[in-house]
Amino acid sequence: MVKLAPSILSADFGRLAEEVAAAEEAGADWIHVDVMDGHFVPNITIGPMVVEVVRRATTLPVDVHLMIERPERYLDAFVGAGASVLTVHVETCPHLSRTIDRIRDLGVGPGVCVNPATPVEALYEIIPFVDLVLIMSVNPGFGGQRYIPSVTDKLRRARHQLDHSGRAGAELQVDGGIDALTGPQAVEAGASCLVAGSAVFGHPDGAAAGVKAIRDAIITQTPASVQSP
Ligand code: DX5
Ligand code: ZN
Repeated sequence: MVKLAPSILSADFGRLAEEVAAAEEAGADWIHVDVMDGHFVPNITIGPMVVEVVRRATTLPVDVHLMIERPERYLDAFVGAGASVLTVHVETCPHLSRTIDRIRDLGVGPGVCVNPATPVEALYEIIPFVDLVLIMSVNPGFGGQRYIPSVTDKLRRARHQLDHSGRAGAELQVDGGIDALTGPQAVEAGASCLVAGSAVFGHPDGAAAGVKAIRDAIITQTPASVQSP
């Protein structure tokens, strides 16, 4: 089944543990945590201390998306804080295989991510070594932006490459502007894990309604064959 990973970026940080618990209760699969440093992306968010809070608030895997320069400096800290998956951007890693190997050596799943303007081909050499490929569908930095439509074709090409490199079982994740309209498009193109922030935590009827709206849209609008990649 397609995984749903609510991003806490759009949660109420004053009630973070409750928000995370509500997402789990609503049927989320992973909790997505956006780490931003004010350098690689214009926004500054959170660090390992908040990952620890999320870790204590849920039994779900904690999926940490590092939008920071020189992420290799902080891998141990985020694993120590309870990350289950650690994703780095190709744009920040001149020695990407070393960084990916280090994440695996620390005992968690390595993920690799590309910004919208980075070609999917930048991932080809590393795909055999990662557990997750993340295709950004907005320019990272903020929640609540609009999905970039050309990313749907990029997802298709990433899916093709995963399937033809013996990595069909790795997650193909998409992040940015995912809701009940764009989620089904991404799933149809081959995504197996959807990150959604504002569509979940910003839903007028609460996080549970946000999770349900996206799930229902996937079930009703995509063929069963792509719902269980
Ligand atoms: C964007 C972050 C996303 C963000 C998604 O830089 O990586 O995870 O929280 O938020 P929405 O779903 O609101 O676009
Ligand atoms: Zn993210």
